[in-house]
Amino acid sequence: MKLHKPVLLEETIKLLDIKSGEVVIDLTAGYGGHAEEILGLLGVSGRLILVDRDLEAISALRSKFQAYSNVEFLHSNFLDLNWGKVGKADRILMDLGVSSPQLDQPQRGFSFNKEAKLDMRMDQSQALSASQVVNEYSEEELANLIYQFGEEPRSRQIARAIVSQREVSPIETTKQLADIVSKCLPANSRVHPATRTFQAIRILVNQELENLTKTLPQATSHLNENGRLAVISFHSLEDRIVKQYFKAIVTPVKDIVTGNVISSPNFRLVNKKPIKGSINDNNPRARSAKLRLVEKIK
Ligand SMILES: C[S@@+](CC[C@H](N)C(=O)[O-])C[C@H]1O[C@@H](n2cnc3c(N)ncnc32)[C@H](O)[C@@H]1O
Repeated sequence: MKLHKPVLLEETIKLLDIKSGEVVIDLTAGYGGHAEEILGLLGVSGRLILVDRDLEAISALRSKFQAYSNVEFLHSNFLDLNWGKVGKADRILMDLGVSSPQLDQPQRGFSFNKEAKLDMRMDQSQALSASQVVNEYSEEELANLIYQFGEEPRSRQIARAIVSQREVSPIETTKQLADIVSKCLPANSRVHPATRTFQAIRILVNQELENLTKTLPQATSHLNENGRLAVISFHSLEDRIVKQYFKAIVTPVKDIVTGNVISSPNFRLVNKKPIKGSINDNNPRARSAKLRLVEKIK
């Protein structure tokens, strides 16, 4: 299994500006690439809480950090985190999306390059899988989903092709779905024609945008003073949610009649423009990555 290579590692660690003895929550700990660096800076007096909804990731984290008594492991969707139990933090990290092991292990059913049962669940204990979406959603639901979450212009054509195929026999594997989608699109670009459709189904199966939208306010309200939240996003839909939420909490509230500031913000942007990943990172996932941070100022 290929290990996960953390994206924007140096930049994230630098801007999180972690001090020894702080409390840090990694809400998407994955295979602990960012966490390892964080732990080195926290020292033994710090506390590191590692969260992931994927049980395989949590097992890998437990073995990786078993020697450290100041590291805690929580198998949870970050949306359902028991903040009352975890408490407030000085730094919180969200490195969104999927990990390389999730993508690369055929049996997880995320990848159009590998033959496997359609699955795409980050948390394998949840009921909804990609197979159910592809075989049970109506043509209209599929078209809307592929358009909204995949930003795929030919969504209607793809939805029609999926429905005609499943009338013959159920669509069971990633390759079957990739072939159906590929036949609807011209093969002319660097990216696989099924990329956007797979992204859409994955986002729906894992409720990625809803989880992010609802968790950002929970995370910022559990920051200590001078605490920082860093979010790494991987596509425009995610980044838009982060950008708009951050903008809302760093903007002063003004009286609509007088224009006077009624309340000044509790947060500031750490970096005005997002830090972007690049292909030079020697990691294809980094190409679309964007890092944004806010700091609690009062
Ligand atoms: C890009 S990987 C993180 C990699 C990690 N930073 C590292 O260095 O190894 C994203 C991880 O977030 C997890 N994840 C995604 N959405 C989640 C959610 N709503 N709650 C908890 N974990 C989530 C995925 O299971 C995956 O392991």
